[in-house]
Amino acid sequence: MEASVVGELKSVNKTSVLFVCLGNICRSPAAEGVFLDLIAKKGLFDNYKVDSAGTSGHHQGELADARMRQTASARGLELLSRSRQFVAQDFKKFDYIIVMDDSNYQNVMNLDTHDEYVQKVIKLTDFCDQNYSEFDHVPDPYYGGEEGFELVLNLLDNGCLNLLNYLEEKRA
Ligand code: 4NP
Repeated sequence: MEASVVGELKSVNKTSVLFVCLGNICRSPAAEGVFLDLIAKKGLFDNYKVDSAGTSGHHQGELADARMRQTASARGLELLSRSRQFVAQDFKKFDYIIVMDDSNYQNVMNLDTHDEYVQKVIKLTDFCDQNYSEFDHVPDPYYGGEEGFELVLNLLDNGCLNLLNYLEEKRA
């Protein structure tokens, strides 16, 4: 088979996941990093296309916030992504759009002008288990202290693992 055809088949078979928050410098780049680390460790890298975006373009092109990178680094995760804004074309490009809070959900849905993609948009905390039942969103750590960044990673570790198990079952 021609290399380009093989490449196309590979991408058709991938499940694509986009993590979304407000600025794309704290929660969603961390989610992208946690999910990438999980699929790498489980040998599932080829099954997924992973990206992140912010509903605001305010931090376009920036690396993740230094505090988020530091907290992730202490857990062995390197966050390399650059901030970009969520755009309506992302609805077509991704199978799952995983948002961090209700405001992200609303901002994303506002771009779904014909209500075509409602089923693709899910909150990360919907995948968290009982231990995190008090959280119905991933709290924005930007204006708070170090503990907020640790909480973000705790919620993401749990939610991303359950998300991955859910997606792998769907792929089976
Ligand atoms: P994120 O956090 O949505 O998790 O990336 C924020 C980053 C920046 C701002 C707010 C939240 N900001 O107001 O600039």
